[in-house]
Amino acid sequence: MSNDTGRILVIGSGGQIGVELTIALRKKYGNDRVIASDLKDESPLLTGTGAFYQLDALNKEQVQLLIKEQHITQVYLLAAVLSAVGEQKPLLAWDINMKALMNVLEIAREEKLKRIFWPSSIAVFGPTSPKQNCPQHTIIEPSTVYGISKYAGESWCEYYFQKYGVDVRSLRYPGIISYKSAPGGGTTDYAIDIFHEAKKNKSYNCFLKEDTYLPMMYMDDAINATMELMEAPLENIKTHRSYNLAGISFSPKEIAAEIQKHIPDFTIHYTPDFRQAIADSWPQSIDDSEARADWHWQHQYDLAAIVKDMLEHI
Ligand SMILES: NC(=O)c1ccc[n+]([C@@H]2O[C@H](COP(=O)([O-])OP(=O)(O)OC[C@H]3O[C@@H](n4cnc5c(N)ncnc54)[C@H](O)[C@@H]3O)[C@@H](O)[C@H]2O)c1
Repeated sequence: MSNDTGRILVIGSGGQIGVELTIALRKKYGNDRVIASDLKDESPLLTGTGAFYQLDALNKEQVQLLIKEQHITQVYLLAAVLSAVGEQKPLLAWDINMKALMNVLEIAREEKLKRIFWPSSIAVFGPTSPKQNCPQHTIIEPSTVYGISKYAGESWCEYYFQKYGVDVRSLRYPGIISYKSAPGGGTTDYAIDIFHEAKKNKSYNCFLKEDTYLPMMYMDDAINATMELMEAPLENIKTHRSYNLAGISFSPKEIAAEIQKHIPDFTIHYTPDFRQAIADSWPQSIDDSEARADWHWQHQYDLAAIVKDMLEHI
């Protein structure tokens, strides 16, 4: 971005990741270089930090006009329907997740945009993928509509790079833990809810079983990974599908035990619901050695550091 005089558009800036990514991008590149946009009203956490436009990612003309008028050269597309909501509304999830991506890829091709970021998810992996240290290249047979849409999206990203030279980059985010903006309806949301309930009621009723291990990451690490991927020279990017990305893995029982170190009378109960089946279909841990080798990715936060920081800020 150093020699690029264009601007960045964040679509979905009001979401869990969008708010923090917009703040981080504005800090790095300047408030006037980063335009925020979302279907809903501007997040109060972004008010006063830069321009915001209400926009529907499904409306290609509207997105394209904004990109042209605002001299946008890079787009971060975060608008999506997440895993748990997607299983409740499968056709809506398919519609939004695919159409928003196809609109942005087409605009990138037509307007010759410099770079696109679009997140995939560990949800691309399904019951037939390896459970431990799931590799970048393996059996990928997703069983949720969210995972199906992410896997199809990854293939479209690779297609647009190979066929049209669109420099689209992607990460398979694990569950992201944060305190600033509320989570959007994913299966890993328990690892955020638990802190709010621990602080408020000293007890939590978890929708997953106690021994459900899932790949997770602190928001700061996710933001760093995203910005490092987007800053990396093109020749370092060996896949334009999506990179596996890992921080840590833990179970509800383990995070509860870590919280009890700070709040000794905290208690946890388990009432698994439909999200248990989604969690059971995903790997428990991810091998992200390709991201670590290609663009030198390193995570910072372990479980103890995440729990300490979350309890301090909530
Ligand atoms: N949060 C996680 O743990 C996680 C994990 C894996 C992947 N991801 C991916 O990261 C991205 C961002 O996730 P998030 O957790 O911030 O989601 P979120 O649900 O919190 O935010 C999504 C934002 O997109 C906006 N949006 C929805 N439809 C829109 C439309 N048609 N036009 C414009 N904006 C629209 C919503 O209003 C919301 O503010 C998604 O692609 C998601 O699949 C997130």
